[in-house]
Amino acid sequence: MSSEAKTPADAAPRRGLPLPAELRDEAERMPLEELRALQLTRLRTTLRHAYEHVELYRKKFDAAGVTPEDCRSLEDLARFPFTTKADLRETYPFGMFAVPMDEVRRVHASSGTTGRPTVVGYTEHDLSVWADLVARSIRAAGGRPGHKVHISYGYGLFTGGLGAHYGAERAGCTVIPASGGMTARQVQIIQDFRPEIIMVTPSYMLTLLDEFERQGIDPRSTSLRVGIFGAEPWTEEMRREIEERLDLHAVDIYGLSEVMGPGIAQECVETKDGLHVWEDHFLPEIVDPVTDEVRETGESGELVLTSLTKEALPVVRYRTRDLTRLLPGTARPAFRRIEKITGRCDDMLILRGVNVFPSQIEELVLRTPGVAPHFQLRLTRQGHLDHMAVRVEARPGATAEQREAAAGALARGIKDGVGLTAEVSVVDPETLERSVGKIRRVQDLRQR
Ligand code: DLL
Repeated sequence: MSSEAKTPADAAPRRGLPLPAELRDEAERMPLEELRALQLTRLRTTLRHAYEHVELYRKKFDAAGVTPEDCRSLEDLARFPFTTKADLRETYPFGMFAVPMDEVRRVHASSGTTGRPTVVGYTEHDLSVWADLVARSIRAAGGRPGHKVHISYGYGLFTGGLGAHYGAERAGCTVIPASGGMTARQVQIIQDFRPEIIMVTPSYMLTLLDEFERQGIDPRSTSLRVGIFGAEPWTEEMRREIEERLDLHAVDIYGLSEVMGPGIAQECVETKDGLHVWEDHFLPEIVDPVTDEVRETGESGELVLTSLTKEALPVVRYRTRDLTRLLPGTARPAFRRIEKITGRCDDMLILRGVNVFPSQIEELVLRTPGVAPHFQLRLTRQGHLDHMAVRVEARPGATAEQREAAAGALARGIKDGVGLTAEVSVVDPETLERSVGKIRRVQDLRQR
């Protein structure tokens, strides 16, 4: 790796090299007015396609008293009804598909741990657009043709593995389809095959990092230069931890299966300042999660996405439940950014009337010397009061005094930063469950 990467962690955030203009897609170079015109044309086509081919949309539009022809400007989209996960569940499995089944080339599905799974479908064209957008994301992250990409997102019904896979191939990279699990073997493969890029959840990256150390390999000495992390929230503190321990550029990729999968928005390596939404294919809005009102650029709220080119499963104003805000474009000026997503509406914990996101605790854990970035939250009710216990692992080699000091510092940090009294215990290294994909940090044992 270049000497530029050997900056100490406390130096200004490291920057990667911007993608030269000639390697950018046409849409990435489009003037804003042209992009807006393209969006409007595509939006009108999508609304008509959804209305004509999906009964649920027809009923919803009729009930709201709108027809696709009522959309004359991008602002008119606000007159159309929202779509939710419940709509997909009610029409399980294929009821929202807008093309005949013999035109559907692939399906993916959510795990369905909280109810019926949601099933999504793709035509050949949808799969091609998806590969293009993941390829664009990989280039924005610093990937180039000829790079080897190690993919540890799970393969299967989850969109992470296969989504990343075809995108990396489309980008002209060599794919190493590792999928999740068999951690020791993954470390071996990274050592032997020498990939420049890894695509993985940030929590599984931590698991891999520990495995490098367990095998006596300095993670900073690997071939990896860029990590493309997503599928779960992660904080700036986690970025610093991963960049410092692995000596690579850590950038964020966003997506959700209902809207496509990974590659809806991507952080550019030269700015690392939030994720550019690939607006030639998705139109973002921010709404108030309670009143449903559309919010201005810069205001926080729930991200709502409308697909602009999807054939098999067009989505109109899909409520992602993800909390963020829209910001003006930077590295790709015409594409607005979403701020790093650090929580979902349904992730928010309410303890004794105080709202807290697990990512706030992550931030504090990572700022506490002596503890590792592995932690779990356990919520119980003691009498009438909510109680939060935080279990966090000590860094290997931390002394008893350091552990005690860390427990005190973290408890104070939670009290001062979040306003909650938490019981903090610092446990031995390698005692908490490790992630192989998306991590679950919260165990909520309170009776509802
Ligand atoms: O997680 C798709 C994906 C795969 C994205 C690989 C990025 C990389 P789902 O399983 O449908 O799809 O979960 C989607 O995960 O609504 C967010 O709550 C969360 N999520 C995804 N990416 C990020 C991210 C994939 N970069 C849900 N930051 C979304 C925070 C994310 N949360």
